[in-house]
Amino acid sequence: MAVKEPISEFLDFIYPNKAEVILGDTLQQLKKFEKEKFELVITSPPYNIGKEYETKTSIERYLQLQEEIIKELIRVTKSHGSICWQVGNYVEKGEIFPLDIYYYQIFKKLGLKLRNRIVWHFGHGLHAKNRFSGRYETILWFTKSDDYVFNLDDVRIPSKYPGKRHFKGDKKGQISGNPKGKNPSDIWDIVVKDWESGMWNIPNVKSNHPEKTLHPAQFPVELVERCILALTNEDDWVLDPFAGVGSTMIAALKNDRNSIGIEKEKDYVNTATNRIESLKEGSIKLRPINKPIHEPKPNDKIAKIPDEWSNLYKEA
Ligand SMILES: C[S@@+](CC[C@H](N)C(=O)[O-])C[C@H]1O[C@@H](n2cnc3c(N)ncnc32)[C@H](O)[C@@H]1O
Repeated sequence: MAVKEPISEFLDFIYPNKAEVILGDTLQQLKKFEKEKFELVITSPPYNIGKEYETKTSIERYLQLQEEIIKELIRVTKSHGSICWQVGNYVEKGEIFPLDIYYYQIFKKLGLKLRNRIVWHFGHGLHAKNRFSGRYETILWFTKSDDYVFNLDDVRIPSKYPGKRHFKGDKKGQISGNPKGKNPSDIWDIVVKDWESGMWNIPNVKSNHPEKTLHPAQFPVELVERCILALTNEDDWVLDPFAGVGSTMIAALKNDRNSIGIEKEKDYVNTATNRIESLKEGSIKLRPINKPIHEPKPNDKIAKIPDEWSNLYKEA
């Protein structure tokens, strides 16, 4: 039997929950799990847009394959559990196909109930030339039944006007808000990648930030944390069937939940395992949940009209 290093034993004591990414194919691996193991399935599936980890196919064939996986995901989700499906657009010859429209119909056909269509809004991205630049993706939150976990108090955000009072009726004069904060609503402003939060101040931070990994489509840990806190309780099991570099595992372990991920690319699995270790060792840099997004001040260099454009602005 392998003897554990004292430091590793200590870290397991601090983070007793399980966090593992299995190397393999999603459908094959899912078949090995017992039914109703997971309280929450949360993932960002491949979008079929020809990223380095996927082979682009027709949208019909893509959705057919995904439906097989979704059936298995429903089988392994607890009857009081949830599935969060984070998607953007499939693009074909400049035409966009919002994937949530297609996925909604699959989940609905399979008996799930939509609780929220969350709009994840972000400030940066590619600048489109022939249409408006895309600045949001969505998360479809489905439940298997009407009786489900929803810990609103654990994800409330600070109220903008905590001193607001009722101005008429029985409660006139009483404080109208909740001391724990307000419901975060179904529009979430979360920076697209954790490392972008510092970009205004430190221009090169993107390339050398420790959170930047080799994965081209990582989602922010903060985004997953909000779902995990709201839709599961401590020690519950969370599954990410397309785990990438393990953002879901980081969010789960950080918040005392158990998690399993499935990922077919060995390099991503290795990176995920290293990220999990660096969370345990305290060396991973994460954006704290609910931290306001940095806005440049009017006098910051980046917010000023560049000298090269000053004539154009004078003429206008
Ligand atoms: C959009 S990425 C998910 C990224 C992840 N949310 C993160 O933060 O790192 C989708 C992932 O699914 C993986 N994938 C695609 N098809 C798969 C399959 N059939 N089995 C296992 N993994 C697969 C890809 O390699 C890719 O890493």
